[in-house]
Amino acid sequence: MAVRKIIRMGHPTLRQVARPLTPDEIGSLELARLLGDMTDTLHDYGGIGLAAPQINEPIRLAIIEIAGGQTRYGELPSLPLTVFINPEIEVLDPTVAGYWEGCLSVPGLRGFVERPRHILVRALTVEGVNHSMEFDGFLATVLQHELDHLDGKLYIDHISDMTQLVFEEELERYGQDEPTG
Ligand code: NI
Repeated sequence: MAVRKIIRMGHPTLRQVARPLTPDEIGSLELARLLGDMTDTLHDYGGIGLAAPQINEPIRLAIIEIAGGQTRYGELPSLPLTVFINPEIEVLDPTVAGYWEGCLSVPGLRGFVERPRHILVRALTVEGVNHSMEFDGFLATVLQHELDHLDGKLYIDHISDMTQLVFEEELERYGQDEPTG
């Protein structure tokens, strides 16, 4: 396994629509290796989610792993390492919830983004089995953020008030009150 380089905003792969994995690829040794690399990369960079396009592999694959507990961004729910292959999102409640988001492909910045607060995700497991999972609140945002990468979208595309795109250090220094209005 290996830590791969995470490409940054401006790299054209981050703006492509990624292709689905084929049945032959699912369960293959190559996919197992790629997932090992993605896990190593996520741990090395210290993130909570990574989509394959972020390591310049334009395929519909993402992983999420959240240790949970108290962090400098508040109390976070936990999610064990979960793999999403060819995922689809269904919005169960379009009412939005807003969070400060960051992205390993947009280092140093944070932006306040509102997204639907309750979703259902259908995807395949590494073994090619269908699974569906519901996510609320912060986890719903994390899922939508990661799966956006498969459609060539970044969180900054969803910021409605550009005064809410800031450097992480300044956000920590001057506070992270949710913007009003
Ligand atoms: Ni991201």
